[in-house]
Amino acid sequence: MGFRKDFLWGGAVAASQVEGAWNEDGKGMSVADVATYKPNVDVKDYKKNVTVSSEDIAKAMKDFSTDIYPKRRGIDGYHHYKEDIKLFAELGFKTLRFSIAWTRIFPNGDEDTPNQRGIEYYKNVIAELRKYNIEPLVTLSHYEMPLHLAVKYNGWADKKIIDYFVKFAKVCFDNYSDVKYWLTFNEIDSVTRHPFTSAGIIPDKSDNLLQDEYQALHNQFIASAMVTKLAHEIIPGSQVGCMLTKLTTYPATAKPEDVLAAENKNLMNYYPADVQAKGEYPKLVLRFFERNNINLDITKEEKHILKENTVDFISFSYYMSMLEAGDESTLEMTAGNTVVGGKNPYLKTTAWGWSIDSVGLRTSLVQLYDRYQKPLFVVENGMGATDKVEDGKVHDGYRISYFKEHISEMKKAVDDGVDLLGYTSWAPIDLVSAGTSQMSKRYGFIYVDLDDEGNGTGKRLKKDSFEWYKNVIATNGEKL
Ligand code: BG6
Repeated sequence: MGFRKDFLWGGAVAASQVEGAWNEDGKGMSVADVATYKPNVDVKDYKKNVTVSSEDIAKAMKDFSTDIYPKRRGIDGYHHYKEDIKLFAELGFKTLRFSIAWTRIFPNGDEDTPNQRGIEYYKNVIAELRKYNIEPLVTLSHYEMPLHLAVKYNGWADKKIIDYFVKFAKVCFDNYSDVKYWLTFNEIDSVTRHPFTSAGIIPDKSDNLLQDEYQALHNQFIASAMVTKLAHEIIPGSQVGCMLTKLTTYPATAKPEDVLAAENKNLMNYYPADVQAKGEYPKLVLRFFERNNINLDITKEEKHILKENTVDFISFSYYMSMLEAGDESTLEMTAGNTVVGGKNPYLKTTAWGWSIDSVGLRTSLVQLYDRYQKPLFVVENGMGATDKVEDGKVHDGYRISYFKEHISEMKKAVDDGVDLLGYTSWAPIDLVSAGTSQMSKRYGFIYVDLDDEGNGTGKRLKKDSFEWYKNVIATNGEKL
């Protein structure tokens, strides 16, 4: 069978990890602008390590340097977008997934009128993509909400944010009405893993953090459903997707207790997509809330909004799989992508400890398609590695092997009958890591000459994987 003729091959990036220019042209501060460089995140206690306090934020708001805040400088994509898009066009991209920084459009998030210079910037980016027939795939929120909304309202824990987000989305739909593909919230399930980055919740402002996290997630579901409706009204034919971190969990052994524990873990991973694709909460999740004394404010009208405005397709990131056991002390723990789980002895890991499991991508595609019966889109998949420049070249055979294995398994899933719209690698160009703010954790087919401290020329250089991926796209995945 192979991939469909109009398969959307491409790459994915996020505003806060590439753009830099954190305070130019009227941009306000986002939650990403206060994220510090954290190369030694304790993987066993990730959540504690990414927690931000009110004090940290107050300090960061008075500090105008980019030194310990690498996302403020990114890869200076704001000023290099033409050059970068030209390289993506050379790769043969059919699509580019990127996000719109909310703080370029509404610097504080709760203003009455938008910032025209911010609107213009993305108009120019989209026009540049169109020049090369690259279809934009736009994420409305990718770990970059206005900091002001976090400080003033404790982020998405407050329902007021729904209206501010809908207003922001409307400005985007009105101004970028030729964009067909939209994603609402990047890795929406991550609110409970890093509540500040994903939802602007400052833990020391919460009386009941667990409750606030699930309420924030619920508020995002409502906002997502409302903007799905809006997109369909403003842009006829538009397609809106949810975006899930696919955390495929296997039982550590065939022991029934381990199978049950893995099953429960997977259920909790699926539920944000269940709500967005089926339009209601799974009954088992409502029972989980009850058991944990989580009392969500869900109105009758909201239930109706969810039911009436389900997503058109399911998109997800896939980096790794992990193990779960009835008795967690039997597991050797490993971490990746802000999650901690049992290490699988059958799999190798990246230098950052993420299990490499290409077959897990096929399993994930089959599971998701069977569960939702809606088209799927792999919008993130890739490998962070330390690259070395030797005589002006980067020989990244390890990256080629990674992609070769994953794309090959994805192809098998398509042969299994999965309806797959496209694949955007994370990330086509080196950028600042979301989790650690490192530059040295490199993902791209294009090398960027910048180090963790921001030193370097910023020059772009094609790695060996560049030619390889170009050929994959040119042959529609036939030659891997
Ligand atoms: C995903 C995020 O979780 O993983 C991206 O959507 C992120 O923003 C990617 O960059 C890889 O994670 P990291 O921490 O290596 O950048």
